Formats: sequence, structure tokens, C-alpha cells
Amino acid sequence: MEQCKDLLAARGRPCLNLKEAAENFRALLDYPALFGNDNPVELEVGCGNGGFISELARRNPDTNYLAVEVCSNVILTAMENCKRAGISNVRFLNIPAEILPCYIPACSVETVYLNFSTPLPETSRERQRLTSSRFLPIYDALLKAGGKIVQKTDSEEFFDYSLAKFREHGFEVGEVTRDLHRSEYAKENIVTEYEKNFSEKGMPIFRAVAVKPNHALRG
Ligand SMILES: C[S@@+](CC[C@H](N)C(=O)[O-])C[C@H]1O[C@@H](n2cnc3c(N)ncnc32)[C@H](O)[C@@H]1O
Repeated sequence: MEQCKDLLAARGRPCLNLKEAAENFRALLDYPALFGNDNPVELEVGCGNGGFISELARRNPDTNYLAVEVCSNVILTAMENCKRAGISNVRFLNIPAEILPCYIPACSVETVYLNFSTPLPETSRERQRLTSSRFLPIYDALLKAGGKIVQKTDSEEFFDYSLAKFREHGFEVGEVTRDLHRSEYAKENIVTEYEKNFSEKGMPIFRAVAVKPNHALRG
């Protein structure tokens, strides 16, 4: 972790319970200080080994990226990969997504990427799904008006659940595909580690974009 600490923007689980921390603790990131510029900011939640965010950052040097991952050994691999590739526009947060509002300023993010979040089909674990009613208000608060959530998953059940949740929380759902790799979006697609495994097994990949309405532009 030591060699990568310049890439680490936040770390740790608060002593407070997650809800209390999200509401009361603030250590908001100063983007110009963190990245050395004022470029737009995008966020990936559950970045895993970081293959997706590194490639996205390489393709878009004028955008800044924040990558969130709760698991310390996993984020370490992601940071090492990023460092080795010489990518300078990604910073990492080793925190649970539940406490994103402690670090990310409100209305400061253009896009939230949710790639192959664990579907957690058990009803008892619904709250932990990253598209549940517990998380969507968090992303909503962090996103700018007109900002978007881009979701990819291998689980049709989780996909349908997520589409319903996006709509329930006022997002406008579009660019829906139930077979991403055979769709018009395939050309630009960056294949993640999990996506590679699933598609090699012949499984279709589901993708949708949920847009936060820009009420200011409405009549
Ligand atoms: C199934 S993996 C997908 C990894 C990567 N996005 C990919 O597509 O290859 C899901 C990742 O999300 C992380 N994760 C799950 N819940 C999280 C949470 N509440 N906050 C932050 N990360 C979370 C897990 O630790 C895991 O690394």
C-alpha cells in the first residue's frame, strides 16, 4: 500500500455505524488538489482489480476518475496496475460505498459506473445490492443534474430489479441492451475482469444507462 499511497484518496471504515458516518462525518475531497486540474470527475463503485477504470482513464486523459473498492487487497492490486501503467488521472477510495457522501462532494460527479456488482439474490441481502433503495439516493446526491449511472451485469434478475429501482428513484432509463457484445454499444465497451469470465462462458451481458433528470432545463 505504501508505494501506491499517492493514488489513495481515502481509506478505512469509520468507528461510527455506516449510516451515522454517512450523515455526520465529512472529509470532502478537494478535486483540484487531488488531481491538479478542474477536469470532470467520474466514479466507479466496486472497481475490483481496476482493469476497467485504468483503461477508461487511459482513453480519456481529460477526465478524472475515482475508483471505490471496499476490499483492501483487491484495491491494492488495482492501484499497483494503475501505477505500473503510468496512469495519472485515477485516485482510489478504499471505503464501503455506504459512506461515499463523507468524501465525495454533492453534485460533483458526471457518471457512476456499476460493473458486475454482486447480484445478491437472497431477499435478506437486498439492502446490500448496489442498486437498492439504500444506494440510489447516495448516487443521486453525488451526481450532477443530467449525470448518469451506467450499469453492466451478467444477471438478468438483478438487471430487471435495477431497472425498476432506477425508475422508482426518478432516473430516466435508456440504452438498454440484453446482449451488450452484439449491440451497437459493443465497439466502445471496455470488458471488465468479471465480464471476460462470463462472456467466455457464452453468457449475455446486460447494460443500461440511468440518467438523473435535469429539472432546471424542464419547462
Ligand atoms: C463481482 S466484483 C466486480 C469487480 C469488477 N467491477 C469487475 O467487473 O470485474 C464486485 C466488487 O464490488 C466490491 N463491493 C461490493 N460491495 C461494495 C460496497 N458496498 N462498497 C464498495 N465496494 C463494494 C467487491 O469487493 C468486489 O470487488
